[in-house]
Amino acid sequence: MSNRTLAIIKPDAVRKNAVGQIIAKITESGFKIIGLKMVSLSRASAEAFYEVHKERPFYPSLVDFMTSGPVVPIVLEKTNAVADFRKLIGSTDPAEAAEGTIRKMFAANKAENAMHGSDSDENAAIEICHFFSRSELL
Ligand code: RTP
Ligand code: MG
Repeated sequence: MSNRTLAIIKPDAVRKNAVGQIIAKITESGFKIIGLKMVSLSRASAEAFYEVHKERPFYPSLVDFMTSGPVVPIVLEKTNAVADFRKLIGSTDPAEAAEGTIRKMFAANKAENAMHGSDSDENAAIEICHFFSRSELL
């Protein structure tokens, strides 16, 4: 069954002008783009998005990073979208990411790691609603 995931091209990758290359890699990997925009997150919006990490030591710097420039949220559809997209982006730390993954190719370190991908179908649905209204989706 086909399902959806939320991807975000993070500010570091936008600054590197890598948006086009990353989108090409995503679509070449069989994902269909259902929604896409470029947006600068407010502090409140970034805090809410990463609320699950509120108690983690890296939370304030993560919010600083995610508000340091525009991001590109993308809704993607594919069979097994959540798991397959996590595989395509690679491990959180690019040093541990497999060859050919987006983080291996574009991320500098564990904090500034180029790309987000939802970690479950349930979170994908919540995260899609964080960025997109119905009329903005295919
Ligand atoms: P994401 O949610 O962005 O797709 O990343 P993930 O599942 O691979 O990793 P997660 O544990 O959910 O962490 C969310 C983001 O927080 C930053 N982080 N920094 N400095 C650190 O040790 C550290 N750990 C995590 C990264 O930007 C990570 O993607
Ligand atoms: Mg995560």
